[in-house]
Amino acid sequence: MNVLLLGGGGREHAMAWRLSQSPLCQALFVAPGNAGTSEYATNLAVNPNDFPAVRAAVLSHAISLVICGPEEPLVRGIQDFFKADEALQGIRFIGPSAEAAQLEGSKAYAKEFMAAFGIPTAGYRSFTAATLAEGLDYLDSRRPPIVLKADGLAAGKGVVILNDVGEAKTELEAMLSGKFGAASEEVVIEDFLDGIEFSVFVATDGKDFRVLPVAKDYKRIGVGDTGPNTGGMGSVSHPPFVDADMMAKVEQRIIMPTLRGIQERSLDYKGFIFIGLISVEGEPFVIEYNCRMGDPETQSVMARLNSDFLKLCLEMADGEVAAATIDIDPRQAATVVMVSGGYPGPYEKGKHIIGLADVTGSMVFHAGTTLDEVGDIVTNGGRVLAVTSYGDTFQEALSLSYENARKINFSGSNYRGDIGFDL
Ligand code: AMP
Ligand code: GLY
Repeated sequence: MNVLLLGGGGREHAMAWRLSQSPLCQALFVAPGNAGTSEYATNLAVNPNDFPAVRAAVLSHAISLVICGPEEPLVRGIQDFFKADEALQGIRFIGPSAEAAQLEGSKAYAKEFMAAFGIPTAGYRSFTAATLAEGLDYLDSRRPPIVLKADGLAAGKGVVILNDVGEAKTELEAMLSGKFGAASEEVVIEDFLDGIEFSVFVATDGKDFRVLPVAKDYKRIGVGDTGPNTGGMGSVSHPPFVDADMMAKVEQRIIMPTLRGIQERSLDYKGFIFIGLISVEGEPFVIEYNCRMGDPETQSVMARLNSDFLKLCLEMADGEVAAATIDIDPRQAATVVMVSGGYPGPYEKGKHIIGLADVTGSMVFHAGTTLDEVGDIVTNGGRVLAVTSYGDTFQEALSLSYENARKINFSGSNYRGDIGFDL
């Protein structure tokens, strides 16, 4: 069958790698893709947020399965667009409806959902400009640190953690008067949870589920998890502190009630649920839901998913997850992300990437790369490459990724040298 994958990051490169290995995959297209995906797929110059352009690509390439990588098209309703279009009937789509994608697209919706279905998460209240005075009073009753979250999608910048009630009040006022545009018209004020985070990925058809390899990502730019947030600087699968006992709690207390909520609310959810969790003294709490896979967790997760990923996607689309089998590689995987100098602030593009051919024993997934006019690979984004390796331990996997990252160079390149430091 012909498959279209939407997106163009390291996550999509890793997915394209696994999809292309499936005997069920005749032709793979990625929109827009990057220099790495072109190795296994045909890149299409289509923006996933341009639904009519996606529709035209689907029809002209006889696509029978579409997999949506990023959240934005989902939150904007691409699944609903497909469902409503006469010409697209029968084309399978992986990704939730806009209503279901509110689990990621609206923090207030997600919190209310968790409260309704008894899913452990930080205590909270949410406020709008009309209830600002109550919000300020509420802050007086809190003990710092205080977590403020813009309700809507804010490109990973909408969460602010403050150590002072006065600063939190100033931030609440700024957010409610448009600091993040429409995304902060509503603000969730949350209790701070102190613990260690991890990422659980659930493949579902809306009824049944399978749990993919567990991962941990490293979001901050600086060593020791300091400095501003990024899209993600590295990942490890499997983080050793997430033991069988913890996963049993996650399934019972979090995944199963989430699926129950999806069913009770008749949410149309055939896709991935990425649950951002925090372990507080051995008890799991939800930090956030995402309606897609994580990046750079997917690079480590796909490395360990030995069973046919395309087959799993078809089982999700066709409501047959109950029959799905998943084979997870017992080896550990680790990913180191190489970024442009200056990222997550302003950075330059178009830097020549050298040394890729010298890499041995690791996989290099591309994110912000493109081919220049003479066909050389150049940088084209903040996060540029993800170097993923296997090992008997995650430390072994990491040292191989670092060994290969040292062979790759582009002007200004930067990566964190301490991925896995807290494990
Ligand atoms: P989110 O966008 O909700 O994942 O939040 C971004 C980051 O902020 C998370 O990865 C956590 O590191 C941190 N964070 C969010 N909510 C909380 C919380 N309630 N307690 C502690 N840290 C939090
Ligand atoms: N790595 C976190 C994310 O994809 O949102």
